[in-house]
Amino acid sequence: MDATAPPSAPITGRPTINLIEAQIRSFREDGFLVLPAISTDAEVAKLREIFDRLFSENVGFKEGNQFDLVGRSGESGPPRLKQLINPVNYAPELRDTVFRANALSIARQLLGPEAGPAFEHAILKPARHGAATPWHQDEAHRFDANFDYNQVSIWMPLQEATLENGCMQYVPGTNHGEVLKHRSPGDDPTVHALETDPTTFDATKAVPCPLPPGGCTIHAGRTLHYAGPNNTDIPRRAYILAFEVSPKLREAERKFPWNEEKRTDDEARKRAWRKRGGVLVEVGRKLRQGFFTDPKRLIFEVRRAARAFFK
Ligand code: NI
Repeated sequence: MDATAPPSAPITGRPTINLIEAQIRSFREDGFLVLPAISTDAEVAKLREIFDRLFSENVGFKEGNQFDLVGRSGESGPPRLKQLINPVNYAPELRDTVFRANALSIARQLLGPEAGPAFEHAILKPARHGAATPWHQDEAHRFDANFDYNQVSIWMPLQEATLENGCMQYVPGTNHGEVLKHRSPGDDPTVHALETDPTTFDATKAVPCPLPPGGCTIHAGRTLHYAGPNNTDIPRRAYILAFEVSPKLREAERKFPWNEEKRTDDEARKRAWRKRGGVLVEVGRKLRQGFFTDPKRLIFEVRRAARAFFK
């Protein structure tokens, strides 16, 4: 996913877990890693309550931060894959969690000490009619293809994640390849999600990663991943924290035409909200995050903004 609107959450807590060398090696080889626990039972129960409230109150909708990932423009009916971008901006109690402290520490072990928070989101796959998340690479979502990205996403389910309710699935080793060609599902640019062309990889090599509540999977920006539909009676909620080192401008030009074609309703709502003064709220959130005090991050932010402006 794109990191244009960072979460405003300084990280204060102390980590309680550390990756061992074999886990770091396995992540580098396969592009993903599974941990049985990254949070506590009590914290996960609290997070479930918070996210159920944020989704039922539809917070962030007017800002273009809450939407149906697979919904089509003008389509009525219940959402099938709800997403909330940067939930911490709507629930300050998310700032100080064991999950966040552990996730940052793990990200720094994998990416180096300069890694910092990039973006976070929550996903609600409703009971019985929750849709599949199509096969994709996260880097394909980045709006500006002309930076080199180095990112990890840490995906934690808030109840058990199983094959039946849509646990994560990965194709090992795809982290070593390039960004594959993506498209909007059904070639409909009003759909937010992206999918890879299924002929460009071997989905039979996919490894499903069932998890207990509060466990996690960790994946790199190019690791191909998918999550199936939710066929159970319980909503499948997941909370994802993404980290990165400050992206650097690429030497060779690169294009992600699938993003240039996008015409989503949430992006239209975001543009309208920014014009109404939301842009100042965004600057405030970036300030709180410390994005303007890290020189490398600042360079990326200014370059990206300038490139978007002069496009
Ligand atoms: Ni993804």
